[in-house]
Amino acid sequence: MLKKVYSLVAPNKIKHNLIIYPDDTFLVSYPKSGNTWVRFILANLMKADDEVIDFHSAIRYVPEIGTHNDILINTPRPRIIKSHSMYDKTYPKVIYLVRDPRDTYVSYYYYLKKSLPVDISFSEFLRKPDMHPSRWHSHVESWLDKPNISLVIKYEDLLLNTHQEVCKIANLLFKKQLSEEKIKLAIQASSFEGMKKIEQEKGRPFKTEDAAAKATTFVRKGGKGDWANYFSREDEEFLKAEAEHILRCLNYV
Ligand code: A3P
Repeated sequence: MLKKVYSLVAPNKIKHNLIIYPDDTFLVSYPKSGNTWVRFILANLMKADDEVIDFHSAIRYVPEIGTHNDILINTPRPRIIKSHSMYDKTYPKVIYLVRDPRDTYVSYYYYLKKSLPVDISFSEFLRKPDMHPSRWHSHVESWLDKPNISLVIKYEDLLLNTHQEVCKIANLLFKKQLSEEKIKLAIQASSFEGMKKIEQEKGRPFKTEDAAAKATTFVRKGGKGDWANYFSREDEEFLKAEAEHILRCLNYV
């Protein structure tokens, strides 16, 4: 009898010292793919009417596994959890956010530039074999087509058709239909210019006390296609040779 009762309970997994529940959804991306933008939108969809979301409060709505476990243990379920992890079969449900690797690498270069040990050029950075958590194509290849992926969102689609992409995310995450007004206001409150202003006025939290990291602007340039101002012909060939299959799969070339 006891055996039967146990068999009805889905086993919980433990990851980064955190219990993963079957109703957890992970927002996974390679760094610099627009994860904070999506978290801002989600926080604005979940917040109380009179709350104003900033970089500090957004974390409470979509905390990062490993970094914010102290928040996650008290986050009401079902939780939405940020992660930059490579493929992980213990994540029950995944929204995978992907961005053109050329813009992603440029964004990552600016984000890390001040904390890199030497002032390396973009071309050198692009060829770094020891990127965290991996090189872009390895991350994307590790996730796409895996059974726990519920939705793939492209940053560029989010730029072009924000309302449609936000509805896809909201339909997956929230049982209750959200009002058009709520969705409209969440998108407005998470606009590029709006988030830039919030960052300037209220700052953002930092994982370390690293002064160089603090000197970077998080909401930097946004948009797509700025990579063309940074990539040489050789850089383009290099990335194509490394990632052509996945670039084609995602219609980036
Ligand atoms: P750029 O460095 O190209 O400007 P992440 O949150 O995954 O680290 O991604 C950061 C990138 O998302 C940065 O790209 C940042 O400017 C961009 N971003 C942040 N907020 C945005 C918004 N509201 N709209 C569009 N892009 C945004």
